[in-house]
Amino acid sequence: MNRAEYWRGKRVLVTGGAGFLGSGLCHALGALGARVTALDAMLPGTGALEANLDGSGAPLVQADLRDADLAPLTRDLDVVFNMAAQTSHAGSMVDPFTDLAINGMAQLRLIAALREGSPRAAVVHASTRQFYGTPRYLPVDEAHPLAPPDANGISKLAGEQYWLQEHRIHGRPVMALRLTNCYGPRLRVRDARQTFLGIWFRRLLEGEPFEVWGGAQLRDLAYLDDVVAAFLAAAETPACAGIAFNLGGAAPVSLLDLARAAVAANGGGRFATREFPPDRAAIDIGSYHADDSAFRAATGWAPRVTLEDGLRRSLDWFRPRISVYL
Ligand SMILES: NC(=O)c1ccc[n+]([C@@H]2O[C@H](COP(=O)([O-])OP(=O)(O)OC[C@H]3O[C@@H](n4cnc5c(N)ncnc54)[C@H](O)[C@@H]3O)[C@@H](O)[C@H]2O)c1
Repeated sequence: MNRAEYWRGKRVLVTGGAGFLGSGLCHALGALGARVTALDAMLPGTGALEANLDGSGAPLVQADLRDADLAPLTRDLDVVFNMAAQTSHAGSMVDPFTDLAINGMAQLRLIAALREGSPRAAVVHASTRQFYGTPRYLPVDEAHPLAPPDANGISKLAGEQYWLQEHRIHGRPVMALRLTNCYGPRLRVRDARQTFLGIWFRRLLEGEPFEVWGGAQLRDLAYLDDVVAAFLAAAETPACAGIAFNLGGAAPVSLLDLARAAVAANGGGRFATREFPPDRAAIDIGSYHADDSAFRAATGWAPRVTLEDGLRRSLDWFRPRISVYL
């Protein structure tokens, strides 16, 4: 069965659907003929933006997983892409209670609602590489020890484990993808709250210099289209159920080389290097790149977008729309 046949008519809920990755999924699912609804609390400081869903065909239901009546939103679903989260690392250290309420407690509410309304729906849960902490070896595979460096790493790990337990105890098909840094259209570029690349893009498009903290750290950035393809592939592959997979991106690159590539992709620009601010240095994980061979073997997925192409496509996408994102 091809991808469009698989998704046509499927009833899909995307939590965090107005955010960066969630809205990317809504666009792809809409194009594939799925009946997709975006659920989002539209929280300030996140990637949430109503305009992210323009043209996707997905209705937006504004609801907070922490306190909304989830029963009417979770009935008769085939697939849930669970993207809603508190994602700020620094923010989680300032307010770990809100971080845990969203990434832990609210996940339990969604789990309970789905048990009632959609006991057989598959769930693909957005997890993170963050809880490996500072890598002891590279590339990082799923057997790497866990050492969350911040409150967000702890809460995201708890959320992932609640979802995997749902597979073990109740047989729900649950797949978790531990994402590396992702980028692409609809990323939050107003500031660095979502990723440092957001503020780099903004500064480049405004003709201003951006800052590179450190510079030697390695990252394997994943482009939006590749991430979306991975989430679809996970949902389509029953053999992925019950497993947390790493998901990497393009070949690893140092932040300094990444900055140079971003300038080249923009056709010009400037940056300055500086030391990490102390509060960020305390929770920085250094170099990271994923060994995602298990996920590739299970699904046949592989990233298709090179770093150069992804940076150019991102900047080209934002250039005419930057005012909407500031
Ligand atoms: N973008 C990345 O590089 C990256 C890396 C690792 C993991 N992830 C994970 O991917 C997922 C999506 O991240 P993103 O980058 O698209 O972030 P994002 O901020 O753009 O999207 C998250 C969305 O969730 C919504 N949300 C938060 N709390 C909610 C609640 N209680 N109820 C309903 N909606 C709520 C926000 O309003 C926001 O729209 C998250 O789970 C994140 O932890 C992302």
